Amino acid sequence: MKRVALLGATGSIGRQAIEIVEAHPRLELCAAASGSTPLDDVDAPLRQVGGDLTELLDRAEPDVVLNAVVGFAGIHATLWALERGVDLALANKESLVAGGDLALAALERGGGRILPVDSEHSALFQCLEGRAPEQVDTLVVTGSGGPFRGRSRDELEDVTPEQALAHPTWQMGPKITIDSATLANKGLEVIEAHYLFGIPYDRIEVVIQPTSIVHSLVRFRDGASLAHLGYPDMRVPISYALTYPERAATPLPPLDLTALALEFSAPDTETFPMLALARAAGERGGTAPCAFNAANEVAVGAFLDGRLPFLAVPEVVGDALSAADGAPARDVDDLVEADRLARELAQRGLPVA
Ligand SMILES: NC(=O)c1ccc[n+]([C@@H]2O[C@H](COP(=O)([O-])OP(=O)(O)OC[C@H]3O[C@@H](n4cnc5c(N)ncnc54)[C@H](OP(=O)(O)O)[C@@H]3O)[C@@H](O)[C@H]2O)c1
Repeated sequence: MKRVALLGATGSIGRQAIEIVEAHPRLELCAAASGSTPLDDVDAPLRQVGGDLTELLDRAEPDVVLNAVVGFAGIHATLWALERGVDLALANKESLVAGGDLALAALERGGGRILPVDSEHSALFQCLEGRAPEQVDTLVVTGSGGPFRGRSRDELEDVTPEQALAHPTWQMGPKITIDSATLANKGLEVIEAHYLFGIPYDRIEVVIQPTSIVHSLVRFRDGASLAHLGYPDMRVPISYALTYPERAATPLPPLDLTALALEFSAPDTETFPMLALARAAGERGGTAPCAFNAANEVAVGAFLDGRLPFLAVPEVVGDALSAADGAPARDVDDLVEADRLARELAQRGLPVA
């Protein structure tokens, strides 16, 4: 039996993960956690609502931690797993973006592995498997373009949270859905890909593929490209990460290629500046990605509460990022402090109520 600790069990990824675990005879939940939603309907011997996730993990002794918490709140659990060499099935991209250098150092010390759950990174992981880094030319991270693809800045002036929450291809939690609408999510994913696969930023490209069938691809130095295709359904990468390298069956139908339209285009980085801001933060390094993530979490929260217009999200994040010192974090305390300071800077940029 593989013992799974599921953090973020009440969320979009968490619910789908429970379905995968329940359907598999050799997976069992040893622990489940949420932030504030009760876990009464979750069948796990250890359950925790709020509180310190690492204490739960200490007691649970899992074989794999599925970190499906949203936001920087997942950082301690990510480091806990990496430090101990416990498999980390990572949906919580924010922890790797914010704590990339510390996470890689912990991964090295712990000797474990990160199994990406983000669909794009699961795709890249599968396309890259068994191939030496020097064979890679470029990673191509695909994105749907979100609900506002094709719109001009003028047309985004008055968009509401409800409109931004209507994602065309994926059913996800509110924070990542807004990130998809601003393209911040693709920015976070570029940084995530950099840390996961050790590829420099100038060789990580983003391409829009509106139907979310091509989950990402890798161009190799010989001119060949490998792509990963599938219906947009997170149960596939969740199952892959939890059962790796087995590739267990899921209830999905086979891909009907004759019914597919595959079109690609470049992202509109003028209308959606969050992608370029994230890339710049990644290239700057240190705690700049942490500051980008923290400011984005504040701005997204304010947009969802109706306190910040959609077009002001990149302004708040850009200003906070410029003011953040970006100094490298020596340890997790430094990182938590960089996160706190960037949140403070972003709060100052919000309109006065
Ligand atoms: N949804 C997707 O399809 C998708 C795809 C790729 C990557 N991801 C990534 O996966 C992560 C989760 O996304 P989601 O869409 O599943 O989010 P979600 O639906 O909002 O769920 C978030 C989960 O995190 C829990 N949580 C929040 N703060 C916590 C804390 N301090 N301690 C413990 N649990 C906490 C929430 O508990 P409560 O219910 O109590 O608030 C909830 O269970 C994000 O990092 C996202 O970027 C998601």
